[in-house]
Amino acid sequence: MKKLPTLGFIGTGAITKALVTGLCSRAADVPYPIVISPRNAKNAAQLKADYPDQITIAENNQAVVDAADWIILAVHPNIGEDVCQSLRFRPDHKVINLMFDKSIGQIRDFISEVDTILFMIPLTFNAFTDGPIVLYPANDEAAAIFGHIGRIIFADDPDQALVYDTFSGCVTSLFAVMDSLIRWSESKGLSSDDAAAYITRFFNAVSRRLPVWTAAASTPWRQSVWKMASTCRH
Ligand SMILES: NC(=O)c1ccc[n+]([C@@H]2O[C@H](COP(=O)([O-])OP(=O)(O)OC[C@H]3O[C@@H](n4cnc5c(N)ncnc54)[C@H](OP(=O)(O)O)[C@@H]3O)[C@@H](O)[C@H]2O)c1
Repeated sequence: MKKLPTLGFIGTGAITKALVTGLCSRAADVPYPIVISPRNAKNAAQLKADYPDQITIAENNQAVVDAADWIILAVHPNIGEDVCQSLRFRPDHKVINLMFDKSIGQIRDFISEVDTILFMIPLTFNAFTDGPIVLYPANDEAAAIFGHIGRIIFADDPDQALVYDTFSGCVTSLFAVMDSLIRWSESKGLSSDDAAAYITRFFNAVSRRLPVWTAAASTPWRQSVWKMASTCRH
């Protein structure tokens, strides 16, 4: 079997925890060696405890870079430039940036010349389900790695990638709507558990149905949604 590349994560926050959990638990047949940075210490220790054979906690960020073939930049945008500039990369390194506000050109300016720089948009749901993962530009090797935990979508250009990124910000609004509906149901006498179970299953089912509706519709998208929504109510 071909040697699997080592994946190195700079920043062990929510998104790294999710991606590493997804890779270790849902892609166990392709056990990519994974090196994580020591911060956040709690997440790093938890991941190491959960997957001791697959995960190494590096001493510092440079040790992550030195040990990895692919380096995933998963720190907050406000420290991204400093973190990148503090690291030394090899020319054969492949880098994936998760910071939404940093272009590939900026990352290239922050670090030395490397083989590949990509922008990727995963979400924490990739820990447990094949939600979409946007990649720009298209890259088959990255798609093969992260395709184990998500449905890969190649963006055509950086602007299109940012359009996809906008949806990540809508998750909070969606949860707020669901939370309001759960609270309202409770005020009408439903138990909290029944309300939460119903609302989450309801939205799950509706979103699974939507592609079928839109694919079947010959009318413009918005009209078809309204039409289907009205049929749904009867
Ligand atoms: N969360 C998502 O769903 C998501 C999706 C796509 C992209 N992203 C992007 O991914 C990046 C990380 O997001 P996140 O949600 O994982 O944030 P987060 O949970 O706050 O994690 C960031 C982690 O970086 C660590 N850190 C701080 N300074 C560091 C340094 N100098 N070197 C290494 N690690 C350092 C922090 O550790 P300490 O706790 O020890 O300070 C923190 O735990 C952001 O740019 C975000 O926009 C996130």
